[in-house]
Formats: sequence, structure tokens, C-alpha cells
Amino acid sequence: MTDSPYVPRWATIRHIRRETPSVKRLELELDNGQALGHQSGQFVEAGILGLGEAPFSVSSSPRRTDSFDLVIRSVGTVSEKLHGLKTGDRIGIRGPFGHGFELARFRNRDVLVVASEMGLATLRSLVHELLEERLLYGRLMVLVSAPTPEQLLFKDELAEWTNRRDIDFYVTVDRALDREWSGHIGVVTTLFQQLQFDPKQTVTAISGPPVMYKYALLELLGRGVAPASIFLTMERRMRCGVGKCGHCQINNVYVCQRGPVLSYADAGKLEEAFV
Ligand SMILES: Cc1cc2nc3c(=O)[nH]c(=O)nc-3n(C[C@H](O)[C@H](O)[C@H](O)COP(=O)(O)OP(=O)(O)OC[C@H]3O[C@@H](n4cnc5c(N)ncnc54)[C@H](O)[C@@H]3O)c2cc1C
Ligand code: FES
Repeated sequence: MTDSPYVPRWATIRHIRRETPSVKRLELELDNGQALGHQSGQFVEAGILGLGEAPFSVSSSPRRTDSFDLVIRSVGTVSEKLHGLKTGDRIGIRGPFGHGFELARFRNRDVLVVASEMGLATLRSLVHELLEERLLYGRLMVLVSAPTPEQLLFKDELAEWTNRRDIDFYVTVDRALDREWSGHIGVVTTLFQQLQFDPKQTVTAISGPPVMYKYALLELLGRGVAPASIFLTMERRMRCGVGKCGHCQINNVYVCQRGPVLSYADAGKLEEAFV
């Protein structure tokens, strides 16, 4: 990082890939040649001069040091503008910010990753990192969902995960026409019906729309997974990223600093976290 967390580093877009009609993956390189230096689960503020900034998860593995990926759904001012950029264009990057996944707490455990919709943009870095050090972890279970087949992110990687023997991979969509999908249909938590795991040995990472957390937590706690072994990514409107502006506050916690990855043992104590 530069000395001041408020000063962006410039990054150049090296590659753009359309993931879905409303989502693009940007591969970026910092112009100063540095590695971004992130942990899985951390985020950056991506900014356009004169327009503004918005927070995005870093979607590539920390071990990839020459470039990094942001996966951006076009929903508003900054994200729409980012969708309009071309290869060779530059954007400002502040961060990485916050706490990511503490992988020391995943070692030698079975790992269950639950990613719904844009949650996979956030958890992809974690899955990549686990796969890169595969022998350090026990069983790896990955559950992924999207509203429709067209809205599934990283389709090429999902196909690869389906064929790997070292991942128990399950994918579902909320709805689909017969001609476009022959797989499971239902929200991500319906995949739990297919899954047997040892709750005492399993650590979980969850990311997705807020409504999903409620049902995933019911399932996990109901099966006996300890709150301290459940890690969630909390998305709040973030501005400064460094605990100064208060935009991301939940109860007495600045999510930009203590999160975005929090254990349920911590997040569950915050009354405003799941409203
Ligand atoms: C830690 C973190 C990680 C994230 N990671 C990702 C990621 O990897 N990929 C991703 O695509 N997104 C991610 N997000 C979400 C992303 O930051 C938001 O979608 C962000 O708001 C986009 O900025 P924008 O300027 O494009 O949209 P905005 O202009 O802020 O608009 C966002 C939404 O708010 C609505 N809105 C805007 N202004 C108002 C208003 N005044 N009143 C009512 N509604 C309004 C818009 O209609 C739109 O639906 C992340 C967020 C956080 C906090
Ligand atoms: S984003 Fe400003 S305090 Fe968290």
C-alpha cells in the first residue's frame, strides 16, 4: 500500500471477460509493478476520477501476485462506469482493506464453502487459495448457486471443479428452462440435503445475499457446526475503508476494519447484523 490509505494506486485493465449479462471480470495490474498484497476475503475501493469509488472483493488468489481480478455487477454509478472501460484504461485502487479469512483456522479441517450469486465473486479467491495448498486441508465441499444458469459466474471454472476429485462440488439454480439446465434446481440451502459432513471437523465460509445467511445458518447450527467455525462476509455501504467515516458501522463495529469476514461467534452478537 502507499503511505496514505486515502491515496489510490493506479491500475491498468489487462483483460476483460463478460461473466453474465450484468457482470464483468476485470483483470488488473498495478502500474507500480507491486503485488496488491491482499488476503482472500479482503476488498478494495475502486475509483474513477471525478466520479467516485465503490468497494469490490478481490476475486483472485493472493498467490497470484502479478495481477488481480475484480468481478463487478453493474448496478449504479461506479460499477456502470467500470463496465464501460476498455483494456488499457486505468482505475484508482485503494486498499486492500479489512480482515479476510484466517486460513490458519481452516488448516487440517474439512472446509465447506457456500456461495450464492455474487458471493462466489468474493469466495473465489478463497477456493483458489485452498486448491493451491490442497494438502493442508481436509475435505473441500463447495456449494454454488445463481438465480438462473445464465447468471452463474466463472462457468469454465465450475466445469473444472465438477471434474476434480479433490472437491465435492454442488451447483444449483433457482429456476431454469428444461432446455438450458439438467442439474439441481432450488436455492443454495437445498443442496444441504445432498451433503453429509462432520460438524465438529468442519469450518465454513458463506457469502451471498443477506436472506441466504438466515437459512444457511439455521442449517449449519442445526447440524452442530460451532459459531466460531462459521465465517461470513458482511457487506455494508463502505466509503473510507479505514474506520473513519462510520458508513459501515453495525452496532459498535466498523465492518471495513473488523470484517468483511466475521465469524458467526462475533457477528451473531451484533443485533443489527442480520436485519
Ligand atoms: C466488502 C464489499 C465487497 C463487495 N464486493 C463486490 C463485488 O465483488 N462485486 C460487486 O459487483 N459488488 C460488490 N460489492 C457491492 C458494491 O460495492 C455495490 O454494489 C456498490 O454500491 C456499487 O457501487 P455503484 O456506485 O456502482 O452503485 P450505487 O450508485 O452505489 O448504487 C447501488 C445500488 O443502490 C441504489 N441506490 C443508489 N443511490 C440510491 C439512493 N439515493 N436511494 C436508494 N437507492 C440508491 C442503486 O439503484 C443500486 O441498486 C461489495 C460491497 C462490499 C461492502
Ligand atoms: S467505511 Fe468508513 S468507517 Fe468503515
